[in-house]
Parts: sequence; structure tokens; C-alpha cells
Amino acid sequence: MLKTTLNLSIFLLLLFDIFLLLYFLYSVVVYFFIRVAYVATPKKYFPEIFKLVEINSQTVIYDLGAGLGNFLFAAEKRGAGHLVGIEISPLHCWLGRLKAWLKKSKVKFIRQNFFATDLASADIIYLFLTPKILPRLWFKIKKEAKPGVQLIVLGEIKNQRPWRSFHGGNIYQLT
Ligand SMILES: C[S@@+](CC[C@H](N)C(=O)[O-])C[C@H]1O[C@@H](n2cnc3c(N)ncnc32)[C@H](O)[C@@H]1O
Repeated sequence: MLKTTLNLSIFLLLLFDIFLLLYFLYSVVVYFFIRVAYVATPKKYFPEIFKLVEINSQTVIYDLGAGLGNFLFAAEKRGAGHLVGIEISPLHCWLGRLKAWLKKSKVKFIRQNFFATDLASADIIYLFLTPKILPRLWFKIKKEAKPGVQLIVLGEIKNQRPWRSFHGGNIYQLT
């Protein structure tokens, strides 16, 4: 009995290690192509962010590089009705969809390169990316998004004056 339990524990531990190793290898390959690793936005940022932006059931929110959708699920809890996550990594996109299904959430995940995303309907756009990619995305957003869009950035966009700042990031309002 003890031997069987021990064998099962070793087997599960091994399986877990294999999953970890596969996930690590997958992350390395994805990073090689897109140069942005998946890191979830820590929850500590949300209270301050959601004090600064107004959200209601009509608000359309895009997270460009949504990962597993942490920001979007937090926005949904605060009443946002239209939530779209754009994610290039197939694994993260499917895990996000699974999470949304388990939570009975309305958050949608689209597997896409965000440089190809149509942003015309967005009211709020959330970005947690690398400083290198932000200026390029800023020009796309300025060109395509409607006036009044609020751009929440964990970090900053160089040479752009924010509308509001929070601990760890900035909010830019398009004119
Ligand atoms: C730092 S994570 C942020 C995750 C999520 N926004 C959050 O805050 O919890 C950046 C994510 O952007 C994704 N990403 C990077 N480049 C992308 C691109 N060109 N198009 C779509 N997603 C991209 C990565 O796969 C990664 O999951």
C-alpha cells in the first residue's frame, strides 16, 4: 500500500516536472520570436488603476498582450461589459479561454498579433509590455483609436505626457 502511494507520488511529481519543463521550453521559443515574456500584472496595481478610470457596462476594454487576462477579469469584476484580450501565444490564449469558461466570464480572447488588431471600438486599452515595443504601439493607437480613449500603461511611454499617474504606471488620454 505504502509502496503504491509512493510510486504514485513519484509519478505525479515527475509529470509535474515534465509539464514545467515543457512550459519553460514553450516560453523560451515564444520569447525568441516576440521578445516579450508572459508576466501577469500583479493584483496590487488594480485598486489604484480602477479608482482613476470610469468603467460601466458599455465600456469596451482591450488588453493588448492579454496573457491569461488578469487585467480583464479584474475590470469585469468592476462592471465592464465588453472585454477583449489580444494574445499572440496560442497556449496563453487557450488557457485564458479556459479561465474565462471556468469563471463563466464574458472576457473574449483573440489569438492575434496586436499590430493587426482593429482598435476602433476601444474605450480603454491596457498595456503591460516592454519599453521597446510601446512607442510603435503608441503610433498605431494614436492613428486608429477614437478620441478620448484611455491608455493604461504599466510603465511609461517615453516623451508622452500622461493624463494621470499611478504607482507603477501611467494613463494617457487620446485627444
Ligand atoms: C507582460 S505579459 C502581460 C499579460 C497581461 N496583459 C497581464 O497584464 O496580466 C505580455 C503578453 O503580451 C503577449 N504579446 C507580446 N507580443 C505580442 C503581440 N505582438 N501580439 C499579441 N500579444 C503579444 C505575450 O505573449 C505576453 O503574454
